[in-house]
Amino acid sequence: MNMDAISRRLFLKNLGAAGALACATATDSMGLALDQPQTGSNPYSATEAKQAATRAQRMAWWHEAKYGMFIHWGLFSVLGQHEWAMEAEGIPIPQYELMAKHFHPRPNAARDWAKLARRAGQKYMVMTTKHHEGFCMFDTKLTNYCAPQQGPGRDLVREYVEAARAEGLRVGFYYSLMDWHHPDGAKCKTDEAARKRFVAYTHGLIRELMTNYGKIDILWYDVDWPLTPEGWESQRMNQMVFELQPEIIVNNRNGLEGDFSTPEQHVTAAKPGRAWETCMTLNDSWGYNRGDNSWKTPKVIASNLAQCASGGGNYLLNIGPKADGSVPTESVEILATVGKWLDTNGKAIYGTERGSFPGAPNTLFTRRGNTLYVLQKYWPGVTPAAQWMSFFQPGAVIGIGGLKTKVKSARLVKTGQDVQFTQNEPLSLQLKGLPVEAPDSPLSVIEVECESDPIIDAWGMVPLWPRYKVGIS
Ligand code: GLC
Repeated sequence: MNMDAISRRLFLKNLGAAGALACATATDSMGLALDQPQTGSNPYSATEAKQAATRAQRMAWWHEAKYGMFIHWGLFSVLGQHEWAMEAEGIPIPQYELMAKHFHPRPNAARDWAKLARRAGQKYMVMTTKHHEGFCMFDTKLTNYCAPQQGPGRDLVREYVEAARAEGLRVGFYYSLMDWHHPDGAKCKTDEAARKRFVAYTHGLIRELMTNYGKIDILWYDVDWPLTPEGWESQRMNQMVFELQPEIIVNNRNGLEGDFSTPEQHVTAAKPGRAWETCMTLNDSWGYNRGDNSWKTPKVIASNLAQCASGGGNYLLNIGPKADGSVPTESVEILATVGKWLDTNGKAIYGTERGSFPGAPNTLFTRRGNTLYVLQKYWPGVTPAAQWMSFFQPGAVIGIGGLKTKVKSARLVKTGQDVQFTQNEPLSLQLKGLPVEAPDSPLSVIEVECESDPIIDAWGMVPLWPRYKVGIS
């Protein structure tokens, strides 16, 4: 997103509306100053420059953390048919509203989520404070369509915040700009008075969230339909957020760049220098969906986490609690299994840095400084073919082509056992004498100490391979 282009467009639009060189100052219904540049300079550029200047420091804990828990919880959990049911099934508002009366979660259900997150090795949580359905899970003065004034009779966001803090986890708020319940939620696209009202409402809710719960670590915006960033007054939105929470980090889904990108349901690294976080479901649904049994395996989850870490990204993995707050058993089991694996192998994930690694069918790589972590998905075992090729040396062999540094030592993380190796640098590293059976599950990790940054460049090595020269002639 080109910030200069946005502010220029905003400026020109305001100029056009005012028909003069200066725009009038105005306030919205919350008494907040609206976007009214008095000169050609961007009134938010100082805030944005400060945001960029403090980014590395604000995001240090997040880069270290690597793994978070996403929680999709709301009225849609009562229906249990996916969080898009209201729209997808065309449920009329009065009918959908009935669920607000029938939403009776047990007290402090969030404590179980926070305990689960800790057991799972997750370092932060992000909960839906308002999803597209428009129901506020928190106490607000701006609508009675909120948890304290409906079935729950209490502030569910406060319970969540307290639960996360009690387990030493960082606290994130998901907030959907799109709102299917508010009367101006769609009308704001074509009706300027509706837009003003809806923007005041939106900014007002965000202000409450940023004011009433102490220090918040992440603001995770979602779906900016139907307005542009200018329409949402997203720069002013972020300015308010940073004034209230100077240490916070924000994502890019209010139409601005924010601090990090948010690939959804796939692991794709952003360009170097840009922070990113893959968000993903454990089955196929964000909200609780009774019939959805498409659970991912612990191996898929651990591999995705490693793949994120490999590219310098984070992994935000979702649970969809039921209406009473309980977490589907399958989710608990998968998270606990990966958590147990992280108890031993966490050093291959937490605090690792972006590396330069290829995709490999059996192996993932992460690194910290000169240490390379080899995370084996599919253990080779000992086959006759592997035996011939290793000249009948005992044990299994893992080969890594194109490692552009010398190896000093290697060990199995699970047992601490030293691993023998030979290196035909830079063509191939052979880790040898390995156990016949995979020493760990879902991934087995080998820690390899190298002389310098462990770059793996299999393609760059191609011209050096004797078989390349032979094949070409
Ligand atoms: C999409 C979906 C939404 C979900 C979100 C999570 O935007 O619309 O239901 O909350 O992804 O990233």
